[in-house]
Amino acid sequence: MPDPSKRTICIGLAGFGNVGAGVYANLEKNADLLRERTGTEMVVKHIVVRDPAKPRAIEPPAGLLTTRWRDLIEDGAVNIIVELIGGTTEAFELVKESLLAGKIVVTGNKALLAERGRELFALAGKTGVPIYFEAAVAGGIPIIKTVQEAFVGNRIESMHAILNGTCNYILTRMSQAGISYEEALREAQELGYAEADPELDVSGWDAAHKALILASLSYGFWIRTEDVYVEGVSELEPMDFQFAALLGHTIKLLSVIRVDGKKQVEVRTEPSLLPKSHVLASVNGVYNAVLVRGDIVGETLFYGRGAGQNPTSSSVISDLADAAVALANGARHTGFVPHGLYGKSKPLEETTAAYYIRIPVRDEAGVLSQVTGVLGKLGISIRSAVQPDESFAGASMLVFTTHEVASGRMWEAVEAISGLDCVAGRPVWLRVESMND
Ligand code: HSE
Repeated sequence: MPDPSKRTICIGLAGFGNVGAGVYANLEKNADLLRERTGTEMVVKHIVVRDPAKPRAIEPPAGLLTTRWRDLIEDGAVNIIVELIGGTTEAFELVKESLLAGKIVVTGNKALLAERGRELFALAGKTGVPIYFEAAVAGGIPIIKTVQEAFVGNRIESMHAILNGTCNYILTRMSQAGISYEEALREAQELGYAEADPELDVSGWDAAHKALILASLSYGFWIRTEDVYVEGVSELEPMDFQFAALLGHTIKLLSVIRVDGKKQVEVRTEPSLLPKSHVLASVNGVYNAVLVRGDIVGETLFYGRGAGQNPTSSSVISDLADAAVALANGARHTGFVPHGLYGKSKPLEETTAAYYIRIPVRDEAGVLSQVTGVLGKLGISIRSAVQPDESFAGASMLVFTTHEVASGRMWEAVEAISGLDCVAGRPVWLRVESMND
């Protein structure tokens, strides 16, 4: 029963897919708890859907449904708008109009914030109307609030994160069952973990958008998408997992955020080798994890479901509760506080790493010296070398790991090696993360 002594906060929910329906159902389920904890009565006043007649597993009262998101803006009683429609065009308009109308925004849209966060947070700053976005990164893991609030007194030294459940499921299956990328993707789709069009996930961009948001929050300037390095998982082969295992490693789609001594910020998302003994190596299936190093707190680790109806709606509801309390008490922050203490992305070619490189070659005299000759000429020091006594689809494989080298130098080496006559296919090269910094 609504409590008339509590301040009523009216919510407009734009989007009633998996997450939107979860927000609605869980707000109802835990209404008594939320009333006590926030001291407010949170009421969903409108729900924007594409097709009101569509049958739904969770059926809200028909009177709440509308097909026009402008109804939410135009209703003076609505205090908070939850943007769950996705995409970066209509969602941008909705968020912009909400801020201009003085309505707090809660969104889970990582692509929108990564691509247009700079404009939207500038507008939030100008209007003094906040954007909350806990659900945009790592589903149910409260990593945004952790960076914004719990670690406010820390300089963030680095983050290493697994931020895409679909890719983590695929790589876990390739590693543990030895199946191909295509088979693992099919499995993920059958289990409902991967979208029918999985491109945003498997290209690495979904995780990269999340990494960009975490890095921007950590370093106080909105990082440009062109300054982020991204590689997807679709080129990996089961043999790369076998070789990685031989070297004591596994392969994860790893997002790495770090700052160097010149305060330059590096943001990368790519399949990387990491030691099997490291705790992130045992984050399997659809789970996400974020390891944060702060200068005061030291190393911390956050683990949980990065997607799905309940985990993601848990984060949306946490933002709604914060927004409701802010409205009731008059306290506000705008979601992103820019500052000039860092302010520069590190040129990608200057970032350094140790590398794994697998090269398909013809099994003939002089091949090893030609390949090592290229590496030697570019000053790339080999750390380990393996040439298994078996052929893979008719080619021999040379597998090297290197010592730390500038990425630009490694790109040059891969290009030169690819052009050698003795090379029988595309080399695969991956970073090896020591996880020590
Ligand atoms: N599709 C994402 C994942 C969740 O698989 O982790 C939404 O970003």
